[in-house]
Amino acid sequence: MKKIVCDNYDAMCRLAADRILDAVRSNPRAVLGLATGSTPIGVYELLAEAYRAGTVDFSEVVTFNLDEYYPISPDNRQSYWYYMQQNFFSKVNVRPENIHIPDGSAADAALACRAYEAAIEAAGGIDLQLLGIGQNGHIGFNEPGKELYAATHVTPLTEQTLRDNARFFSADEVMPTQALTVGVGTILKAKSILLLANGKNKKAAVARLDDGMLDPAVPATFLLGHRDVTVICDREAV
Ligand code: F6R
Repeated sequence: MKKIVCDNYDAMCRLAADRILDAVRSNPRAVLGLATGSTPIGVYELLAEAYRAGTVDFSEVVTFNLDEYYPISPDNRQSYWYYMQQNFFSKVNVRPENIHIPDGSAADAALACRAYEAAIEAAGGIDLQLLGIGQNGHIGFNEPGKELYAATHVTPLTEQTLRDNARFFSADEVMPTQALTVGVGTILKAKSILLLANGKNKKAAVARLDDGMLDPAVPATFLLGHRDVTVICDREAV
């Protein structure tokens, strides 16, 4: 695991965006694993800027988002589907049929998870996976526990995650207490992984990556078992 400490959030996003742009330029059909949350917003802005400048083409790129609340409809402003349209897809030329986000409105969540997993496999797996990290060390919505799921699954959200993400919801919006998430095993199958972390509230979780222990109570530590992970963080997160 390689760790790069950047001076600030902007520099962190620049570095991550450049890695993604390089991946797409060298393989226009790259399969990207994407994250939501506050962390990658600056990265998506830079990717959109590169597209506007005509220096990258996303028309053959295939994307798989990590997670989605459950249950939630795509047009709900709090859905990750909505987030991705707002922050990225409406600004670039990824083809709608190449976009995959776990189906938060599926009647049968377990079936939707199996279909999602099959779609990732059919696409040949993820080439480059972008990750954020929860204060509790979650990746995607793989929450701390005694055991971790390998594949895409339905999960209850922990108290900590509900507290952390409450900041995105207004008083009259109901926050779902479950999510669909790509599993840790599927994340670890990605050829290359970028984990982004900024701010002092991520410091404790990032520090656990230095311990060298795989601990299901801190799901991100399982990334220590992968051969190509780059942690990109700002000074406050280390
Ligand atoms: C979101 C996701 C989550 C977030 C994590 C950090 O798709 O996978 O694991 O990356 O909760 O969220 P922020 O960036 O809002 O601190």
